[in-house]
Amino acid sequence: MITCYNLSLEYTPGHRVLKDISLKVPKGSFHFLTGASGAGKSSLLNLFALTIRPSSGRLKLFGQEVTKLGHDALPLLRRKVGSVVQDFQLLDHLTVAENIALPQKISGEGFADTDAKVTELLDWIGLSPFRDVKPPLLSGGQKQRVAIARAVINNPPLLLADEPTGNLDPKLSKRFMYLFETLNKMGTTIILATHDESLIRAFAYPVLHLKEGKVMQERGEGE
Ligand SMILES: Nc1ncnc2c1ncn2[C@@H]1O[C@H](COP(=O)(O)OP(=O)(O)O)[C@@H](O)[C@H]1O
Ligand SMILES: [Mg+2]
Repeated sequence: MITCYNLSLEYTPGHRVLKDISLKVPKGSFHFLTGASGAGKSSLLNLFALTIRPSSGRLKLFGQEVTKLGHDALPLLRRKVGSVVQDFQLLDHLTVAENIALPQKISGEGFADTDAKVTELLDWIGLSPFRDVKPPLLSGGQKQRVAIARAVINNPPLLLADEPTGNLDPKLSKRFMYLFETLNKMGTTIILATHDESLIRAFAYPVLHLKEGKVMQERGEGE
């Protein structure tokens, strides 16, 4: 699903945030991505989500060498990736339902069942009564739940979730983890960034630990 080789990223010349990262994320796997604040978790996920470009190294996504793709080819590939970003990036002038439906609208395909899907997702995130509310009126946790629903509406083969439970209470965090688990069992490859140790302890998924710009495999498959 993802293969990278000697991937490096610098925002300012000479200061590498990610250093020669080589790893493989197999199709259908579920990985935690952890590390201290500022370790580069969001940066790595943004590279995988194709929203930023590496400074050097190679990145293969869905079997395609990303670093060689032209700008016109990127959006197509990007659509296969569901992202829950750390700051939610909801559109304030759209309702909750419209925000969730956005990836289907953008894709340009006429989805006959968008409304039904949105209704199902609203129920699933427990925000049915907020369907026509606009994001500025929501709490941080509610926004986060909308961002999660929006990320999964297209059943993306790859889901990148950046601290998706960061604003949720422990009970709701667990519930969403079960949801991600269900998606994973249905075939979605997931990378979930978190610095929540209790979450990592509660679920036996392999852990990629970012430290000083490098990824170490802290807990392997099946340990
Ligand atoms: N857009 C940016 N421009 C410059 N520096 C950035 C940018 N985004 C992140 N950084 C820096 O890169 C490092 C890693 O940040 P980030 O990927 O957000 O880490 P994490 O998600 O693990 O907290 C930090 O030192 C941060 O200040
Ligand atoms: Mg981050």
